[in-house]
Amino acid sequence: MKKATCIVNKHFKIADIDQRLYGSFIEHMGRAVYTGIYQPEHPNADEEGFRQDVLQTIQQLNVPIVRYPGGNFVSGYDWTDGIGPKHQRPTRLDYAWFSIETNQFGINEFASWAKKANTQGMIAVNLGTGTPQQAGYLVEYCNIESGTYWSDMRHSHGYPQPHNFKVWCLGNEMDGEWQIGRLSAEDYAKKALETAKIIKWVDPEVELVACGSSSKEMTTFPEWDRTVLEHCYNYVDYISLHRYYHYEGDKQSFLAAFYDLNDFISTIKATADYVKAQQRSDKVMMLSLDEWNVWYLNQMNQKRWQWAPAIAEDVYSLLDALVVGGLLTTIVNNADRVKMACLAQLVNALAPIHTDAKGGVLKHSTYYPFQQVSQYGRGGVYRTITLCDQINTDKYGEVSELATLSTFDPDSNQLAFFVLNSNLENEIALTLTFEEFGELQMTDHQVLHGNDLFAVNSFAQSDTVVPQSLTLEPLSAKVFTLALPPTSWSMVRFTVS
Ligand code: AHR
Repeated sequence: MKKATCIVNKHFKIADIDQRLYGSFIEHMGRAVYTGIYQPEHPNADEEGFRQDVLQTIQQLNVPIVRYPGGNFVSGYDWTDGIGPKHQRPTRLDYAWFSIETNQFGINEFASWAKKANTQGMIAVNLGTGTPQQAGYLVEYCNIESGTYWSDMRHSHGYPQPHNFKVWCLGNEMDGEWQIGRLSAEDYAKKALETAKIIKWVDPEVELVACGSSSKEMTTFPEWDRTVLEHCYNYVDYISLHRYYHYEGDKQSFLAAFYDLNDFISTIKATADYVKAQQRSDKVMMLSLDEWNVWYLNQMNQKRWQWAPAIAEDVYSLLDALVVGGLLTTIVNNADRVKMACLAQLVNALAPIHTDAKGGVLKHSTYYPFQQVSQYGRGGVYRTITLCDQINTDKYGEVSELATLSTFDPDSNQLAFFVLNSNLENEIALTLTFEEFGELQMTDHQVLHGNDLFAVNSFAQSDTVVPQSLTLEPLSAKVFTLALPPTSWSMVRFTVS
Protein backbone atom coordinates (compact mmCIF):
# COMPACT_ATOMS: atom_id res chain seq x y z
CA MET A 1 0.00 0.00 0.00
CA LYS A 2 1.17 3.56 -0.68
CA LYS A 3 2.21 5.51 2.38
CA ALA A 4 2.07 9.14 3.45
CA THR A 5 2.58 11.03 6.69
CA CYS A 6 1.04 14.12 8.20
CA ILE A 7 2.14 16.01 11.29
CA VAL A 8 0.01 18.56 13.13
CA ASN A 9 1.65 20.57 15.90
CA LYS A 10 -0.31 22.63 18.42
CA HIS A 11 2.26 25.43 18.22
CA PHE A 12 1.56 26.00 14.53
CA LYS A 13 -1.84 27.58 14.49
CA ILE A 14 -2.66 29.41 11.25
CA ALA A 15 -5.62 31.40 12.59
CA ASP A 16 -8.82 31.32 14.54
CA ILE A 17 -11.61 30.29 12.22
CA ASP A 18 -14.21 32.95 11.50
CA GLN A 19 -17.42 30.94 11.45
CA ARG A 20 -18.57 33.02 8.48
CA LEU A 21 -16.26 30.84 6.37
CA TYR A 22 -19.18 28.43 6.33
CA GLY A 23 -21.63 30.83 4.73
CA SER A 24 -23.90 30.27 1.78
CA PHE A 25 -26.02 32.20 -0.68
CA ILE A 26 -29.66 32.67 -1.62
CA GLU A 27 -30.27 34.57 -4.82
CA HIS A 28 -33.50 35.35 -6.62
CA MET A 29 -32.47 32.79 -9.20
CA GLY A 30 -34.48 29.86 -10.52
CA ARG A 31 -36.22 28.11 -7.62
CA ALA A 32 -33.90 29.23 -4.82
CA VAL A 33 -36.49 31.53 -3.26
CA TYR A 34 -39.83 30.60 -4.83
CA THR A 35 -40.62 26.90 -4.26
CA GLY A 36 -37.23 26.67 -2.51
CA ILE A 37 -37.16 28.46 0.82
CA TYR A 38 -40.51 30.24 0.29
CA GLN A 39 -43.67 28.45 -0.80
CA PRO A 40 -46.77 29.57 1.11
CA GLU A 41 -49.02 26.95 -0.52
CA HIS A 42 -46.77 24.01 0.44
CA PRO A 43 -48.10 21.77 3.27
CA ASN A 44 -44.81 22.25 5.18
CA ALA A 45 -44.91 26.06 4.99
CA ASP A 46 -45.17 28.01 8.23
CA GLU A 47 -47.37 31.07 8.77
CA GLU A 48 -44.87 33.26 6.88
CA GLY A 49 -44.70 30.90 3.91
CA PHE A 50 -41.25 29.50 4.73
CA ARG A 51 -40.82 25.80 4.11
CA GLN A 52 -40.01 24.24 7.45
CA ASP A 53 -38.54 21.08 5.96
CA VAL A 54 -36.05 23.28 4.09
CA LEU A 55 -35.36 25.35 7.19
CA GLN A 56 -34.53 22.21 9.17
CA THR A 57 -32.19 20.95 6.49
CA ILE A 58 -30.41 24.31 6.44
CA GLN A 59 -30.17 24.41 10.24
CA GLN A 60 -28.44 21.02 10.17
CA LEU A 61 -25.97 22.40 7.66
CA ASN A 62 -24.79 25.16 10.07
CA VAL A 63 -24.66 28.15 7.78
CA PRO A 64 -23.82 31.22 9.88
CA ILE A 65 -24.20 33.80 7.11
CA VAL A 66 -26.25 33.90 3.90
CA ARG A 67 -25.63 36.31 1.03
CA TYR A 68 -28.81 37.84 -0.46
CA PRO A 69 -30.49 38.82 -2.87
CA GLY A 70 -27.80 38.23 -5.56
CA GLY A 71 -25.70 37.59 -7.49
CA ASN A 72 -26.40 38.90 -10.92
CA PHE A 73 -30.01 39.49 -9.90
CA VAL A 74 -29.10 42.35 -7.59
CA SER A 75 -27.65 44.47 -10.39
CA GLY A 76 -31.13 45.16 -11.78
CA TYR A 77 -33.09 44.94 -8.53
CA ASP A 78 -35.07 47.78 -6.99
CA TRP A 79 -35.30 46.74 -3.35
CA THR A 80 -38.36 48.94 -2.80
CA ASP A 81 -40.33 46.56 -5.06
CA GLY A 82 -40.05 43.90 -2.34
CA ILE A 83 -41.44 45.84 0.66
CA GLY A 84 -44.94 46.75 1.83
CA PRO A 85 -48.25 44.96 1.29
CA LYS A 86 -47.68 41.95 -0.92
CA HIS A 87 -50.68 42.57 -3.17
CA GLN A 88 -49.23 45.97 -4.10
CA ARG A 89 -45.79 44.70 -5.08
CA PRO A 90 -44.97 44.87 -8.78
CA THR A 91 -44.23 41.90 -10.99
CA ARG A 92 -41.15 42.65 -13.06
CA LEU A 93 -38.82 41.20 -15.63
CA ASP A 94 -35.54 40.04 -14.09
CA TYR A 95 -32.87 40.74 -16.71
CA ALA A 96 -30.26 38.58 -14.98
CA TRP A 97 -32.01 35.24 -15.35
CA PHE A 98 -34.73 36.24 -17.86
CA SER A 99 -37.35 35.32 -15.29
CA ILE A 100 -40.49 36.83 -13.83
CA GLU A 101 -39.98 38.33 -10.38
CA THR A 102 -43.18 38.73 -8.34
CA ASN A 103 -41.46 40.41 -5.38
CA GLN A 104 -43.50 38.39 -2.90
CA PHE A 105 -40.25 37.77 -1.02
CA GLY A 106 -38.15 40.84 -0.20
CA ILE A 107 -35.74 42.15 2.39
CA ASN A 108 -38.16 41.85 5.34
CA GLU A 109 -39.08 38.28 4.46
CA PHE A 110 -35.39 37.51 4.16
CA ALA A 111 -34.68 38.96 7.61
CA SER A 112 -37.46 36.85 9.18
CA TRP A 113 -36.34 33.76 7.32
CA ALA A 114 -32.69 34.27 8.32
CA LYS A 115 -33.69 34.36 12.00
CA LYS A 116 -35.51 31.08 11.63
CA ALA A 117 -32.56 29.55 9.76
CA ASN A 118 -30.17 30.60 12.60
CA THR A 119 -28.15 32.70 10.25
CA GLN A 120 -27.29 36.33 9.51
CA GLY A 121 -27.51 38.24 6.27
CA MET A 122 -24.76 39.45 3.95
CA ILE A 123 -26.71 41.94 1.86
CA ALA A 124 -25.64 43.01 -1.61
CA VAL A 125 -26.67 46.42 -2.96
CA ASN A 126 -27.38 47.19 -6.58
CA LEU A 127 -24.45 49.03 -8.17
CA GLY A 128 -25.53 48.09 -11.70
CA THR A 129 -28.71 50.10 -12.30
CA GLY A 130 -28.81 51.31 -8.69
CA THR A 131 -27.28 54.42 -7.16
CA PRO A 132 -25.24 55.07 -4.01
CA GLN A 133 -28.25 56.98 -2.66
CA GLN A 134 -30.62 54.00 -3.11
CA ALA A 135 -28.08 51.80 -1.34
CA GLY A 136 -27.98 54.28 1.54
CA TYR A 137 -31.79 54.24 1.78
CA LEU A 138 -31.75 50.45 2.00
CA VAL A 139 -29.26 50.53 4.87
CA GLU A 140 -31.42 53.17 6.57
CA TYR A 141 -34.54 51.04 6.05
CA CYS A 142 -32.82 47.98 7.52
CA ASN A 143 -30.53 49.26 10.25
CA ILE A 144 -31.83 52.57 11.64
CA GLU A 145 -34.14 52.12 14.61
CA SER A 146 -36.77 54.78 13.88
CA GLY A 147 -37.46 58.47 13.35
CA THR A 148 -36.49 58.75 9.67
CA TYR A 149 -38.45 58.32 6.46
CA TRP A 150 -37.14 54.85 5.60
CA SER A 151 -36.86 53.43 9.12
CA ASP A 152 -40.40 54.57 9.91
CA MET A 153 -41.54 52.96 6.70
CA ARG A 154 -40.09 49.66 7.96
CA HIS A 155 -42.15 50.10 11.14
CA SER A 156 -45.25 50.74 9.04
CA HIS A 157 -44.55 47.49 7.20
CA GLY A 158 -44.74 45.57 10.47
CA TYR A 159 -41.03 45.30 11.36
CA PRO A 160 -40.38 47.53 14.40
CA GLN A 161 -36.98 46.02 15.17
CA PRO A 162 -34.10 46.99 12.88
CA HIS A 163 -32.67 44.06 10.94
CA ASN A 164 -29.13 45.20 11.77
CA PHE A 165 -27.42 43.54 8.84
CA LYS A 166 -23.71 43.80 9.51
CA VAL A 167 -22.14 42.85 6.19
CA TRP A 168 -22.88 44.64 2.91
CA CYS A 169 -21.53 43.84 -0.57
CA LEU A 170 -20.93 46.81 -2.88
CA GLY A 171 -22.53 45.27 -5.96
CA ASN A 172 -21.84 41.95 -7.62
CA GLU A 173 -19.33 40.87 -10.28
CA MET A 174 -19.19 44.36 -11.75
CA ASP A 175 -16.29 43.29 -13.99
CA GLY A 176 -18.45 40.82 -15.95
CA GLU A 177 -19.88 41.66 -19.35
CA TRP A 178 -22.95 39.60 -18.34
CA GLN A 179 -23.61 41.98 -15.48
CA ILE A 180 -26.52 44.42 -15.71
CA GLY A 181 -24.79 47.80 -15.71
CA ARG A 182 -21.23 46.45 -15.92
CA LEU A 183 -18.56 49.06 -15.22
CA SER A 184 -14.88 49.51 -15.91
CA ALA A 185 -12.59 49.09 -12.91
CA GLU A 186 -12.16 52.87 -12.56
CA ASP A 187 -15.89 53.58 -12.81
CA TYR A 188 -16.80 50.80 -10.42
CA ALA A 189 -14.15 51.88 -7.94
CA LYS A 190 -15.51 55.43 -7.89
CA LYS A 191 -19.11 54.28 -7.51
CA ALA A 192 -18.18 51.75 -4.82
CA LEU A 193 -16.26 54.40 -2.92
CA GLU A 194 -19.15 56.88 -2.92
CA THR A 195 -21.56 54.12 -1.89
CA ALA A 196 -19.20 52.98 0.86
CA LYS A 197 -19.06 56.51 2.27
CA ILE A 198 -22.85 56.81 2.40
CA ILE A 199 -23.35 53.35 3.90
CA LYS A 200 -20.76 53.95 6.63
CA TRP A 201 -22.28 57.36 7.37
CA VAL A 202 -25.67 55.70 7.82
CA ASP A 203 -24.29 52.84 9.92
CA PRO A 204 -20.59 53.01 10.94
CA GLU A 205 -20.84 49.53 12.48
CA VAL A 206 -21.20 47.66 9.19
CA GLU A 207 -18.50 45.89 7.22
CA LEU A 208 -18.18 46.39 3.46
CA VAL A 209 -17.11 44.05 0.68
CA ALA A 210 -15.82 45.48 -2.61
CA CYS A 211 -16.22 43.47 -5.81
CA GLY A 212 -13.02 41.78 -6.82
CA SER A 213 -12.54 39.67 -9.90
CA SER A 214 -15.32 37.28 -10.92
CA SER A 215 -12.74 34.66 -11.76
CA LYS A 216 -9.08 34.15 -12.57
CA GLU A 217 -9.97 33.95 -16.25
CA MET A 218 -11.22 37.54 -16.49
CA THR A 219 -8.93 39.50 -18.81
CA THR A 220 -9.02 42.31 -16.23
CA PHE A 221 -7.72 40.06 -13.42
CA PRO A 222 -5.80 41.10 -11.30
CA GLU A 223 -5.67 44.70 -12.57
CA TRP A 224 -9.32 45.07 -11.60
CA ASP A 225 -8.56 44.17 -8.01
CA ARG A 226 -5.58 46.51 -7.83
CA THR A 227 -7.57 49.44 -9.24
CA VAL A 228 -10.56 48.87 -6.99
CA LEU A 229 -8.38 48.60 -3.90
CA GLU A 230 -6.31 51.66 -4.82
CA HIS A 231 -9.51 53.72 -4.73
CA CYS A 232 -11.32 52.02 -1.86
CA TYR A 233 -8.62 50.62 0.44
CA ASN A 234 -9.52 52.80 3.41
CA TYR A 235 -13.26 52.45 2.98
CA VAL A 236 -13.83 48.72 2.63
CA ASP A 237 -13.10 45.73 4.82
CA TYR A 238 -12.95 42.92 2.27
CA ILE A 239 -12.25 42.32 -1.39
CA SER A 240 -14.40 39.58 -2.88
CA LEU A 241 -13.45 36.69 -5.14
CA HIS A 242 -15.66 34.16 -6.88
CA ARG A 243 -14.66 30.72 -8.14
CA TYR A 244 -16.57 27.86 -9.78
CA TYR A 245 -15.33 24.53 -11.16
CA HIS A 246 -16.84 21.75 -13.21
CA TYR A 247 -15.81 18.37 -14.56
CA GLU A 248 -14.72 18.52 -18.20
CA GLY A 249 -13.62 14.90 -18.70
CA ASP A 250 -10.33 15.10 -16.77
CA LYS A 251 -10.88 13.75 -13.26
CA GLN A 252 -7.36 14.39 -12.02
CA SER A 253 -7.42 18.08 -12.91
CA PHE A 254 -10.94 18.49 -11.51
CA LEU A 255 -9.87 16.90 -8.21
CA ALA A 256 -6.99 19.40 -8.09
CA ALA A 257 -9.41 22.35 -7.89
CA PHE A 258 -8.24 22.84 -4.29
CA TYR A 259 -4.79 23.70 -5.65
CA ASP A 260 -6.13 26.19 -8.18
CA LEU A 261 -8.28 27.92 -5.56
CA ASN A 262 -5.23 28.32 -3.35
CA ASP A 263 -3.41 29.95 -6.25
CA PHE A 264 -6.30 32.38 -6.83
CA ILE A 265 -6.44 33.32 -3.15
CA SER A 266 -2.65 33.82 -3.07
CA THR A 267 -2.78 36.20 -6.03
CA ILE A 268 -5.57 38.29 -4.52
CA LYS A 269 -3.69 38.43 -1.21
CA ALA A 270 -0.56 39.58 -3.03
CA THR A 271 -2.52 42.21 -4.96
CA ALA A 272 -4.10 43.52 -1.75
CA ASP A 273 -0.72 43.57 -0.02
CA TYR A 274 0.80 45.48 -2.93
CA VAL A 275 -1.84 48.19 -2.48
CA LYS A 276 -1.28 48.16 1.28
CA ALA A 277 2.41 48.89 0.70
CA GLN A 278 1.71 51.46 -1.98
CA GLN A 279 -0.66 53.32 0.36
CA ARG A 280 1.66 53.00 3.36
CA SER A 281 -1.31 51.50 5.19
CA ASP A 282 -1.28 49.44 8.39
CA LYS A 283 -4.55 47.82 7.49
CA VAL A 284 -4.54 44.25 6.20
CA MET A 285 -7.28 43.70 3.62
CA MET A 286 -9.28 40.56 4.25
CA LEU A 287 -10.86 38.38 1.56
CA SER A 288 -14.46 37.31 1.07
CA LEU A 289 -14.82 34.27 -1.18
CA ASP A 290 -18.49 35.07 -1.43
CA GLU A 291 -19.25 32.62 -4.24
CA TRP A 292 -17.63 29.22 -4.67
CA ASN A 293 -18.82 25.79 -5.74
CA VAL A 294 -18.98 23.21 -8.48
CA TRP A 295 -21.31 24.55 -11.17
CA TYR A 296 -22.07 22.97 -14.54
CA LEU A 297 -23.62 26.04 -16.15
CA ASN A 298 -26.02 23.87 -18.11
CA GLN A 299 -29.80 24.18 -17.80
CA MET A 300 -29.43 27.93 -18.24
CA ASN A 301 -31.26 28.35 -21.55
CA GLN A 302 -34.82 28.19 -20.38
CA LYS A 303 -37.76 29.71 -22.13
CA ARG A 304 -37.77 33.41 -21.27
CA TRP A 305 -39.95 35.09 -18.69
CA GLN A 306 -41.09 32.21 -16.54
CA TRP A 307 -41.66 32.43 -12.81
CA ALA A 308 -39.34 30.25 -10.71
CA PRO A 309 -37.87 28.28 -13.63
CA ALA A 310 -35.80 25.20 -12.81
CA ILE A 311 -32.43 26.68 -13.78
CA ALA A 312 -29.00 25.52 -12.65
CA GLU A 313 -30.45 22.56 -10.72
CA ASP A 314 -27.21 20.63 -10.80
CA VAL A 315 -27.39 17.06 -9.51
CA TYR A 316 -24.07 16.60 -7.79
CA SER A 317 -22.08 13.39 -7.99
CA LEU A 318 -19.66 11.70 -5.62
CA LEU A 319 -16.84 13.24 -7.66
CA ASP A 320 -18.32 16.72 -7.19
CA ALA A 321 -18.58 16.12 -3.44
CA LEU A 322 -14.90 15.14 -3.27
CA VAL A 323 -13.98 18.34 -5.10
CA VAL A 324 -16.07 20.36 -2.65
CA GLY A 325 -14.21 18.66 0.22
CA GLY A 326 -10.87 19.60 -1.36
CA LEU A 327 -11.99 23.21 -1.84
CA LEU A 328 -13.00 23.38 1.82
CA THR A 329 -9.47 22.37 2.88
CA THR A 330 -8.09 25.31 0.90
CA ILE A 331 -10.66 27.77 2.23
CA VAL A 332 -10.11 26.93 5.89
CA ASN A 333 -6.32 26.67 5.54
CA ASN A 334 -6.46 30.31 4.38
CA ALA A 335 -8.49 31.45 7.39
CA ASP A 336 -5.85 34.05 8.28
CA ARG A 337 -6.97 36.12 5.26
CA VAL A 338 -10.23 34.62 4.00
CA LYS A 339 -12.75 35.59 6.66
CA MET A 340 -15.99 34.90 4.83
CA ALA A 341 -16.94 32.38 2.17
CA CYS A 342 -20.30 31.47 0.66
CA LEU A 343 -21.09 28.12 -0.89
CA ALA A 344 -23.07 29.27 -3.92
CA GLN A 345 -25.81 28.53 -3.55
CA LEU A 346 -27.99 26.96 -0.85
CA VAL A 347 -31.27 25.71 -2.30
CA ASN A 348 -32.14 24.42 -5.80
CA ALA A 349 -29.92 26.73 -7.88
CA LEU A 350 -26.44 25.13 -7.94
CA ALA A 351 -27.11 23.97 -4.43
CA PRO A 352 -26.60 21.10 -1.98
CA ILE A 353 -30.33 21.16 -1.07
CA HIS A 354 -33.03 20.35 -3.61
CA THR A 355 -36.76 20.72 -3.11
CA ASP A 356 -39.69 19.09 -4.80
CA ALA A 357 -42.36 21.79 -5.10
CA LYS A 358 -44.99 19.12 -4.45
CA GLY A 359 -42.92 16.99 -2.09
CA GLY A 360 -39.91 16.94 0.18
CA VAL A 361 -36.25 17.83 0.37
CA LEU A 362 -33.21 16.03 -1.01
CA LYS A 363 -29.61 16.39 0.13
CA HIS A 364 -27.21 16.23 -2.79
CA SER A 365 -23.75 14.66 -2.33
CA THR A 366 -22.09 18.03 -1.75
CA TYR A 367 -24.21 18.60 1.35
CA TYR A 368 -22.13 16.12 3.34
CA PRO A 369 -18.53 17.37 3.16
CA PHE A 370 -19.82 20.91 3.69
CA GLN A 371 -21.82 19.86 6.72
CA GLN A 372 -18.90 17.96 8.23
CA VAL A 373 -16.50 20.88 7.95
CA SER A 374 -19.02 23.54 8.95
CA GLN A 375 -20.08 21.55 11.99
CA TYR A 376 -16.73 20.26 13.19
CA GLY A 377 -14.13 22.54 11.63
CA ARG A 378 -14.36 25.03 14.45
CA GLY A 379 -11.93 26.86 16.75
CA GLY A 380 -8.48 27.27 15.19
CA VAL A 381 -6.96 25.88 12.01
CA TYR A 382 -3.51 24.29 12.35
CA ARG A 383 -0.80 23.84 9.77
CA THR A 384 -0.66 20.28 8.42
CA ILE A 385 2.79 19.15 7.25
CA THR A 386 1.90 16.45 4.75
CA LEU A 387 4.50 14.27 3.06
CA CYS A 388 2.92 12.51 0.11
CA ASP A 389 3.43 11.97 -3.60
CA GLN A 390 2.68 14.55 -6.23
CA ILE A 391 0.28 13.73 -9.05
CA ASN A 392 0.64 15.10 -12.53
CA THR A 393 -2.42 17.01 -13.73
CA ASP A 394 -2.94 18.34 -17.25
CA LYS A 395 -4.26 21.66 -15.99
CA TYR A 396 -2.00 22.49 -13.06
CA GLY A 397 1.10 20.30 -13.39
CA GLU A 398 2.34 18.53 -10.24
CA VAL A 399 -0.16 18.68 -7.38
CA SER A 400 -0.02 17.01 -3.98
CA GLU A 401 -2.23 13.91 -4.02
CA LEU A 402 -3.57 14.64 -0.54
CA ALA A 403 -5.31 17.82 0.61
CA THR A 404 -5.41 17.99 4.40
CA LEU A 405 -7.04 20.19 7.05
CA SER A 406 -6.81 20.10 10.83
CA THR A 407 -8.84 22.14 13.31
CA PHE A 408 -8.92 22.24 17.09
CA ASP A 409 -11.48 23.91 19.30
CA PRO A 410 -9.98 24.55 22.77
CA ASP A 411 -13.41 25.32 24.24
CA SER A 412 -14.70 21.83 23.57
CA ASN A 413 -11.32 20.04 23.30
CA GLN A 414 -12.44 18.66 19.96
CA LEU A 415 -9.95 18.10 17.18
CA ALA A 416 -11.00 17.36 13.61
CA PHE A 417 -8.93 16.18 10.65
CA PHE A 418 -10.14 16.12 7.04
CA VAL A 419 -8.37 14.69 4.01
CA LEU A 420 -9.03 14.32 0.30
CA ASN A 421 -7.19 11.46 -1.37
CA SER A 422 -7.22 12.49 -5.03
CA ASN A 423 -5.30 9.42 -6.19
CA LEU A 424 -7.70 7.65 -8.55
CA GLU A 425 -6.02 4.23 -8.25
CA ASN A 426 -4.36 3.85 -4.89
CA GLU A 427 -5.35 3.47 -1.31
CA ILE A 428 -2.94 5.40 0.92
CA ALA A 429 -1.96 4.53 4.49
CA LEU A 430 -1.67 7.90 6.20
CA THR A 431 0.31 8.08 9.45
CA LEU A 432 -1.10 11.01 11.34
CA THR A 433 0.87 12.46 14.25
CA PHE A 434 -0.49 15.08 16.63
CA GLU A 435 2.24 16.88 18.57
CA GLU A 436 1.75 18.86 21.78
CA PHE A 437 -1.99 18.26 21.98
CA GLY A 438 -1.82 15.48 24.60
CA GLU A 439 -3.62 12.17 24.23
CA LEU A 440 -6.37 11.88 21.65
CA GLN A 441 -9.38 9.60 21.74
CA MET A 442 -10.94 8.97 18.34
CA THR A 443 -14.69 9.64 18.47
CA ASP A 444 -15.74 9.59 14.83
CA HIS A 445 -14.31 8.33 11.55
CA GLN A 446 -16.31 8.83 8.37
CA VAL A 447 -15.37 8.18 4.77
CA LEU A 448 -17.05 9.27 1.57
CA HIS A 449 -16.09 7.10 -1.39
CA GLY A 450 -17.50 4.52 -3.79
CA ASN A 451 -16.93 2.58 -6.97
CA ASP A 452 -18.95 4.92 -9.11
CA LEU A 453 -17.62 8.48 -9.03
CA PHE A 454 -20.69 9.64 -10.93
CA ALA A 455 -23.23 8.20 -8.46
CA VAL A 456 -25.81 10.75 -7.29
CA ASN A 457 -28.59 10.96 -4.72
CA SER A 458 -32.21 11.05 -5.84
CA PHE A 459 -35.60 11.14 -4.13
CA ALA A 460 -35.92 7.42 -4.91
CA GLN A 461 -32.45 6.66 -3.50
CA SER A 462 -31.39 9.51 -1.25
CA ASP A 463 -28.50 7.72 0.49
CA THR A 464 -26.41 6.61 -2.47
CA VAL A 465 -23.69 9.17 -1.74
CA VAL A 466 -23.39 9.64 2.02
CA PRO A 467 -20.37 9.29 4.32
CA GLN A 468 -19.96 5.88 5.96
CA SER A 469 -18.95 5.58 9.62
CA LEU A 470 -15.98 3.31 10.28
CA THR A 471 -14.97 1.36 13.38
CA LEU A 472 -13.00 3.51 15.79
CA GLU A 473 -9.53 2.84 17.12
CA PRO A 474 -10.18 2.14 20.80
CA LEU A 475 -6.96 3.45 22.37
CA SER A 476 -5.96 6.96 23.29
CA ALA A 477 -2.86 7.86 21.32
CA LYS A 478 -0.94 10.60 19.54
CA VAL A 479 -0.26 8.72 16.34
CA PHE A 480 -2.93 7.11 14.15
CA THR A 481 -2.91 5.33 10.84
CA LEU A 482 -5.78 5.94 8.48
CA ALA A 483 -6.46 3.90 5.37
CA LEU A 484 -7.56 6.39 2.72
CA PRO A 485 -9.39 4.64 -0.14
CA PRO A 486 -8.61 5.83 -3.66
CA THR A 487 -10.56 8.98 -4.56
CA SER A 488 -12.05 9.54 -1.14
CA TRP A 489 -12.85 12.15 1.46
CA SER A 490 -12.31 11.29 5.14
CA MET A 491 -13.13 13.02 8.40
CA VAL A 492 -11.70 11.87 11.74
CA ARG A 493 -12.63 13.50 15.04
CA PHE A 494 -10.94 13.25 18.41
CA THR A 495 -11.45 14.35 21.96
CA VAL A 496 -8.23 15.72 23.44
CA SER A 497 -7.42 15.04 27.08
O1 AHR B 1 -24.28 31.94 -8.28
C1 AHR B 1 -24.74 32.09 -9.58
C2 AHR B 1 -24.19 33.32 -10.28
O2 AHR B 1 -22.81 33.19 -10.46
C3 AHR B 1 -24.30 34.62 -9.53
O3 AHR B 1 -25.52 35.25 -9.73
C4 AHR B 1 -23.21 35.45 -10.11
O4 AHR B 1 -22.71 36.39 -9.20
C5 AHR B 1 -22.18 34.43 -10.55
O5 AHR B 1 -21.78 34.66 -11.84
